[in-house]
Amino acid sequence: MSEASNSVPAGGGAAGRAERAAQRRAIASRYALLPLRLFLGVTFVYAALDKLSDAHFLAGAGDPASFVSQTQAAKAGGSPISFLLGPALDHPTLFALAVAFGELAVGLGTLLGLWGRVAALGGALLNLSLWLTVSWSVAPYYLGNDLAYLMAWIPLVLAGTPYLSVDGYLARRAGRDRERGLGEDHVKRRALVDGGIAAVAIGGAGLLTGSLTRTFGRGRQAAPKQSAAPVSAAPAQAPTVSAASVPVGGSAQVKDPATGDAVYIVQPKAGQYCGLSSVCTHSGCAVDAPKNGQLYCPCHGSRFDAATGAVVNGPAVKPLPKYAVTKDGDKLTLGPQQS
Ligand code: FES
Repeated sequence: MSEASNSVPAGGGAAGRAERAAQRRAIASRYALLPLRLFLGVTFVYAALDKLSDAHFLAGAGDPASFVSQTQAAKAGGSPISFLLGPALDHPTLFALAVAFGELAVGLGTLLGLWGRVAALGGALLNLSLWLTVSWSVAPYYLGNDLAYLMAWIPLVLAGTPYLSVDGYLARRAGRDRERGLGEDHVKRRALVDGGIAAVAIGGAGLLTGSLTRTFGRGRQAAPKQSAAPVSAAPAQAPTVSAASVPVGGSAQVKDPATGDAVYIVQPKAGQYCGLSSVCTHSGCAVDAPKNGQLYCPCHGSRFDAATGAVVNGPAVKPLPKYAVTKDGDKLTLGPQQS
């Protein structure tokens, strides 16, 4: 059926109303997967460009947000496919770029509906591999977002992208060719060639966009942050809080004046104060405020000791950076970063 034939028929009486209601339900069913397709397509394009523009993702093993650090953490965290991660650790830049450009291809294919089943299968395989690696140690399992994405791809793998899509256009044209009496081989070859041309054109545009993003993205801004020396906050700029706002086991949040990152001032034992960065050393998410002696990262489930910042539970492998805190009367002052 042509996409143009979706109009609701005119007509009076109960029969007409029933027919119009049935038509509306049919249209809703036909486009039921469109919001999911748009969400997954936009998300994958965004995720790909975000990776390509982030120097941390493509940095080396010393950067906790890098592809290689995340892969090492997955391996250390008991990934069931850890035996497959060796090649990725041997050639991390190649694999990191493959993941980013793979996400871009999947996102564009899904958004435009070009070879939609193939794109959806690619997305499902990407999320399956992420679930079995970076999300594997997340507990409980339903907090692992890669599993949810994997499930979200399955309807598109099954249904494809037949509406509002390049696939739909090619299918309708193939139908017209058949009506004109053209041979099946000719019809299939034409659809394959035209689909291939569209894929090359869209892939080229994606490659260009990705390369430009990588060249002019956040890489230049991120570099100094990696090589920054330990913070030495000038006393005049050092943030302060009242000691009363930091009970034993509690915290108060301040900002590192050098980086702008949030820091928790904590009092793990009576009279002992220190600062802990709120930036998770796994992939840079903000960890929650300390609770029951631990700081929890909601992204992939890492837990850190609220007294020392040490990793209690991966996938993070590095402790949270720690800061000195001095007490003067009822005033707590954030000092320099110590680790
Ligand atoms: S960012 Fe992954 S556990 Fe925190």
